[in-house]
Amino acid sequence: MKRSIERLVAQMTLEEKAGMCSGGDFWHLKGVERLGIPAVMVSDGPHGLRKQEQEGDHLGVNDSIRAVCFPTACATAASFDTGLLETLGRVLGAECRAQGVGVLLGPALNIKRSPLCGRNFEYFSEDPYLAGQLAAAQIKGIQSQGVGASPKHFAANNQEYHRLTCSAQIDPRTLREIYLAPFEAAVKAARPWTVMCSYNKINGEQVSESKALLTDILRGEWGFDGYVMSDWGAVNDRVKGLCAGLDLEMPASGGSTDRQIAAAVREGRLPEAVLDRAVGRILDVIFRYADGQGAAEFDLQAHHELAVRMARECAVLLKNEGGVLPLGQRTRVAFVGEFAQKPRFQGGGSSHINAFRAESAWEAARGRYEVQYARGFSAGGDEADEALMREAVELAAGCGAAVVFAGLPDSFECEGYDRSHMRLPGCQNELIRRVAAVQPNTVVVLHNGSPVELPWADEVPAILELYLAGQGAGRAAVELLFGEANPCGKLAETFPLRVQDNPSYLNFPGNGDTVEYREGVFVGYRYYDKKEAPVRFAFGHGLSYTSFAYSGLRADKTAVRDDEPVTVRLEVTNTGARAGKEIVQLYVADCTGAEVRPEKELKGFVKLELEPGETKTAEFVLDRRSFAWYDPQRGSWTCASGRYGLLAGASSRDIRQRVEIELTCTDPKPYVVDANSRYDDLLAQPALREFMLRLLEKEYPPAPPAESGAARAAITPEMQQRMDREAPLRSLRSFKGYTQEQLDGLIARLNAMLR
Ligand code: BGC
Repeated sequence: MKRSIERLVAQMTLEEKAGMCSGGDFWHLKGVERLGIPAVMVSDGPHGLRKQEQEGDHLGVNDSIRAVCFPTACATAASFDTGLLETLGRVLGAECRAQGVGVLLGPALNIKRSPLCGRNFEYFSEDPYLAGQLAAAQIKGIQSQGVGASPKHFAANNQEYHRLTCSAQIDPRTLREIYLAPFEAAVKAARPWTVMCSYNKINGEQVSESKALLTDILRGEWGFDGYVMSDWGAVNDRVKGLCAGLDLEMPASGGSTDRQIAAAVREGRLPEAVLDRAVGRILDVIFRYADGQGAAEFDLQAHHELAVRMARECAVLLKNEGGVLPLGQRTRVAFVGEFAQKPRFQGGGSSHINAFRAESAWEAARGRYEVQYARGFSAGGDEADEALMREAVELAAGCGAAVVFAGLPDSFECEGYDRSHMRLPGCQNELIRRVAAVQPNTVVVLHNGSPVELPWADEVPAILELYLAGQGAGRAAVELLFGEANPCGKLAETFPLRVQDNPSYLNFPGNGDTVEYREGVFVGYRYYDKKEAPVRFAFGHGLSYTSFAYSGLRADKTAVRDDEPVTVRLEVTNTGARAGKEIVQLYVADCTGAEVRPEKELKGFVKLELEPGETKTAEFVLDRRSFAWYDPQRGSWTCASGRYGLLAGASSRDIRQRVEIELTCTDPKPYVVDANSRYDDLLAQPALREFMLRLLEKEYPPAPPAESGAARAAITPEMQQRMDREAPLRSLRSFKGYTQEQLDGLIARLNAMLR
């Protein structure tokens, strides 16, 4: 195949080659008829197929074909289920094949830095490990159908405010550990055919022109071998972008940037080989699709059933006191809130699917359970309607239980702009409070793409988080509420008490031109845990109608080298009365103190399905990367020798078991002594310890007890010693009469002892 692509490129004119590097229209690449190159179509993504047949636009303004809207990424992430994501990918791939779409534009795996990002509903998590694993699974599924995926938006597109021009100012360690890591995992594990670069700048450089990102890291380090396409309109300087590794510009540029490329080649500013390479990559992917096989049709109705099942697997039971849920066959249940009839199940913008149907909770429950409905508020707005509210409260008071279907109106979260606050509409908060005041069995069901403040959380016994759960949201909610299904999702993000508690709060969304990522690696639970700060609901939290016990956590070795894997196992037992699924999380805690690090980080998860009384073993395999941090000075991932905690949890704040292992780093950072090496650090080097103790004894002998009481109180010998050991070697010159030559000699001797 490689050879024939090369031959094809060689047959193309300069203009044809330059033309291949931008779209033919809004959704198609260009074809070259005389050479048999088809004009392949790409479409959004990521949780359904948004294929526009008429006039194209990227913000969902014009209609697309009727398709299935699956749960959005904020929901699928809560499933912690890679199998489910792979299935989602597979069915989306099949829909693409059947509709003649060669690349699906997704998944979107940017990190949720702030709950306010308008597009969080399309993203998976605040945790890079989780986001990377889930994205990889979805990509594998899509590509199993002979259709390309396009993980996006690479990288650090964590807000909508000024998304085309703003520069994310990120230190190199944070960039690698938090913002690039999900892409790294997805690229390495799933080998996507394409990657979509983001709109924004990073540290002042337009991502679409960043050779470091698009070539050195993406291809050089991670082995990406497809083509990089721009987000729609992300191209600033086309020739610069091409040199940096941006192969395809989308959408069409009206020919103007094609002409710029051709002129640059002719004028010797752009080596033709660079253009040939980009064209070769694009053609290679075109033919992966064109020569591939896959489903020719799909069954909308069957995919709808799958959408329902997925929504069920993603919902998170946040609270359930006094066994309010499941409702069972309780006499009469009030369904309150317009979302019961019109569920909000997706967000606005380029991912908006023309769903061929949507099942509401009201539709799913009516006739099967004794339910009554009161609108309570309008789903689209903020304004309270006293009459609607009174009617709903009255209905709730007269029933055996009330379910308030609450959520964010469409206009509150959407691609293209961020939220200005984290609240639900005031009318909904008030209605929930008033219903809870008259009805002790009040359940709140939430439809939102990102955390909301829950000021009434202590006043209601149960909360079910549906997220934006796709077109099956309503039926899934009913099945979960009435106990036909058992909730099994867990939060892929922290619910802070208030937006002000979020670590990015002081620096989100920045000053317009730049946004400083000053919280560094302390994003989400990495921050809240370090600060031991209270949160509303912790990362990884989610309840079930049954209960699980954890036991027997162990590693296959207690002392391990960092170049060998460690297998960690524990038993999980369903101790309740009904079948259920438990998401078991494995966190690693670095106890070496070698670097400033989070208290713990997620490094593994499994979802186990257990019958009542059944026990299964959860197994995780950790490798060097599970313990490592990114060291910008070395330009590589590194870990320290010492103790690490392995924590098995039902959530980040519900750690059930803990063991420790001793890790030996096989590639320690070489320690080099210089005039600024501190005594404390020198003493910590085993090869120097004896020598240093003798030196300190000689140069800093214990001071004789001070004569006056006041002097004794000012500094004790112990205080003096601690102060001395903070000092660097050069203090021998300042305070102990060493000459420069003597100091240099000592440093040389110490370095020799280390070798
Ligand atoms: C979005 C992408 C999307 C593209 C095409 C852009 O505005 O950022 O996620 O794939 O449009 O619709």
